[in-house]
Amino acid sequence: MSAYKFIDHKFDVVVVGAGGSGLRAALGCAQAGLKTACVTKVFPTRSHTVAAQGGISASLGNMGQDDWRWHMFDTVKGSDWLGDQDAIEYLTRNAPAAVYELEHWGVPFSRTVDGKIYQRAFGGMTKNFGEGPIQRTCAAADRTGHAMLHTMYGQSLAHDTEFFIEYFALDLIMEDGVCRGLTAWKLDDGTLHRFQAQMVILATGGYGRAYFSATSAHTCTGDGNAMALRAGLPLQDMEFVQFHPTGIYGAGCLITEGARGEGGYLTNSEGERFMERYAPSVKDLAPRDMVSRAMTIEIREGRGVGPNKDHIFLHLDHLDPKILHERLPGISETAKVFAGVDVTKAPIPVLPTVHYNMGGIPTNYHGEVVTKSGDNPDQVIPGLMAVGEAACVSVHGANRLGSNSLIDLVVFGRAAALRCAEILKPLATQPELKDSMTDGHLARFDRFRHANGNQPTAALRLEMQKAMQEDAAVFRTGESLESGVVRLQAVWDKAKDIKVSDRGLVWNTDLMETLEFDNLIGQAVVTVAGAVNRTESRGAHAREDFSTRDDANWMKHTLAWLDPSTGKVKIDFRPVHSYTMSKDIDYIPPKQRVY
Ligand code: FUM
Repeated sequence: MSAYKFIDHKFDVVVVGAGGSGLRAALGCAQAGLKTACVTKVFPTRSHTVAAQGGISASLGNMGQDDWRWHMFDTVKGSDWLGDQDAIEYLTRNAPAAVYELEHWGVPFSRTVDGKIYQRAFGGMTKNFGEGPIQRTCAAADRTGHAMLHTMYGQSLAHDTEFFIEYFALDLIMEDGVCRGLTAWKLDDGTLHRFQAQMVILATGGYGRAYFSATSAHTCTGDGNAMALRAGLPLQDMEFVQFHPTGIYGAGCLITEGARGEGGYLTNSEGERFMERYAPSVKDLAPRDMVSRAMTIEIREGRGVGPNKDHIFLHLDHLDPKILHERLPGISETAKVFAGVDVTKAPIPVLPTVHYNMGGIPTNYHGEVVTKSGDNPDQVIPGLMAVGEAACVSVHGANRLGSNSLIDLVVFGRAAALRCAEILKPLATQPELKDSMTDGHLARFDRFRHANGNQPTAALRLEMQKAMQEDAAVFRTGESLESGVVRLQAVWDKAKDIKVSDRGLVWNTDLMETLEFDNLIGQAVVTVAGAVNRTESRGAHAREDFSTRDDANWMKHTLAWLDPSTGKVKIDFRPVHSYTMSKDIDYIPPKQRVY
């Protein structure tokens, strides 16, 4: 591989990704005096956090009484008891301080009449341990992620993080089970880079683009997850894929849950507000897995709307246009552009659309990557952390509550930085890197760069996306999932004959999309393998052939390892943390999830 030369960099910490969790982690590490880099494939303010709409959860109690314990209860219940309760406690206890930190940094939150941060209702967020909806989601109109990301990037520039923008991360440099850094390809001049670090923090987001229709940006290809798989590490709970109930029919663009938080509601072809039947106490503000299933059932039973009866209506047309203008301006515009609908006059056609990955790289609540090693289910991988959607902490378990993602980003981005400050010494000596640690990275890169087969990347990607969309959907069966396994294996096999047309190194989008496809297919394979294996229904994993939750056999996290040469998956398990972090709060025992 002498044809390629690396440009070398040495840092204490290298964060990969510049979305909400990556920026928060990088900022915290720089504040702690650690020499910090942030490597990102897009300009920071184009990271997918920018698209988050409805808000960030925290029990501020600005709209009436609230308590972090209620938030913890809702998150455990929302997770269908697959969430780790120590991590959920950490999240919900630290949430208010994290939101005030954002406020002090300058996030332009919407305000109540008395000047407090405005909070709206969101699905599954309740008062007094499940009694009824509560307003807990702090909002900057319906552009909360946009406001947060721009503010945090501004704050990052005030600290000493060095940004490496439009660098595509290739692989983790591993030595005897320790992460020593990563390699990356600089897109605008074609150079290759080796980043050595005491700690790599993967903040690379989800892999929504494994599916045909997703609210995720086209950049959401789970690059960090795939790097972990290639490094021989497992991914956790990948079978749990969240469908957001209200993607615009046909286009897939997100219409925030905040729309229902402001009083919007869903109807079927009979004009019925059907959520009243499925979740009598919270109705349209049930958790996303439940609303998505209810919509799918309505459509299947012939009560969908439109000429083909294949979608549902979301009504905002009864709301005061002044409120829509003030609190939901973004989705009002999106509905106009992508559905041709004036929300003040007509309902929006919507359909459940892939939105979030509960699964990812297993970590503890400090952000340290863990794996199962012998009898130890919590073995830390030295030198490697993961935060945000790339990570599986696991606070979301089998189903994430809306607005718990933005708070996850900042709480665990901060936690990772605090841990780095605790365990790393600024500018500590690092071992020499050897070429043998990166030869495999270059061989993979070169193989794709010169791939001269017959299968264009775009065709393979589409085949994978269609298989995922059809076979690993809101409802699954053993039969659909087995079909998914076969279809994905066929894509995997065909990918040996992949075709890349551009041999250049500068702005080679053909090669970049091929590397992204290679990242996606591995994650698609482990997702479906985990789903076939899990013979129960829990949260977003709804098996029609195993329609109930089975705590006796399945209250455990799936771990999935991928053999990169064959595409075969090995599965094992880690126990769910059925204990809390501190002595002053008890473990919440499992119950059936009724809303
Ligand atoms: O509906 C939304 O605004 C999305 C929020 C989330 O996924 O947390």
